[in-house]
Amino acid sequence: MMDQDYMRFVERINLLTSIDLSLYKEAQMKRRLTALRDKKNYASFSGYYDALKGDQRLMDEFLERMTINVSEFFRNPERWDVVRHRIIPELIAQKRKLKLWSAACAAGEEPYTLSCLLHNDSSKREYSILATDLDRAALKRAQEGIYDNNALKHVPEAIRSSCFSDTEKGTAIGDHLKKNIRFKQHNLLLDAFEDGFDLIVCRNVMIYFTEEAKEELFRKFSEALRPGGYLFVGSTEQIFYPGRFNLHPMEPFFYQKPIS
Ligand SMILES: C[S@@+](CC[C@H](N)C(=O)[O-])C[C@H]1O[C@@H](n2cnc3c(N)ncnc32)[C@H](O)[C@@H]1O
Repeated sequence: MMDQDYMRFVERINLLTSIDLSLYKEAQMKRRLTALRDKKNYASFSGYYDALKGDQRLMDEFLERMTINVSEFFRNPERWDVVRHRIIPELIAQKRKLKLWSAACAAGEEPYTLSCLLHNDSSKREYSILATDLDRAALKRAQEGIYDNNALKHVPEAIRSSCFSDTEKGTAIGDHLKKNIRFKQHNLLLDAFEDGFDLIVCRNVMIYFTEEAKEELFRKFSEALRPGGYLFVGSTEQIFYPGRFNLHPMEPFFYQKPIS
């Protein structure tokens, strides 16, 4: 039976914030939000919504719970070896200036991982990285660029010493790694995409989306890539029949848009 209270909440949140919770897997999202609602002592989603809409702190907490910002530098290090030893060399052989997109970038760990790799690459190729996320609070942390050691556990030693420095607040990413990154709030399920990307990294967010939402995203990512460009997805986000989206598997979790 449809839960009218939750369905109405989903509709009202969409009107208020333009975040469409119906495009996220329902069981998972509902479980998470019900736990938060109960913790805040609201018996129904209707009562919770009425409180949320006039209380910024409650709203921030809701956004934090629904977005899940867990990330780390070089998450799944063996995949980043593919970026480092295969994708980057191929791209720099083709183009003078690289245009990359880290979508759903959380607190910046992924775009900074890309920036560290390109900065340390002997080609010293020019690059620009668009780094986007739905969550403004996560983007603010990304711009500050201060991390605890847990987020850095997979960072290779040479990169750690050339890209980070220790400060009183924590480990800070160097300003030289920040300057090629443009952070921007962006909803993957709503906003228009830029195009002409050589590489799009979008990992560990599509697992939360419905099948229909994921398929629409794959189509839009493919359009946003330049011919020959790559899409890098998360460990549980393989694309079934990628040819439907004009993408070809290259390595597990990497897809290329054909050149013609
Ligand atoms: C688990 S983190 C993944 C971070 C990073 N990509 C990684 O793999 O380590 C998921 C991120 O997706 C963001 N997110 C959730 N829904 C989104 C949407 N509709 N559009 C853009 N970002 C979204 C969240 O704010 C969160 O920062």
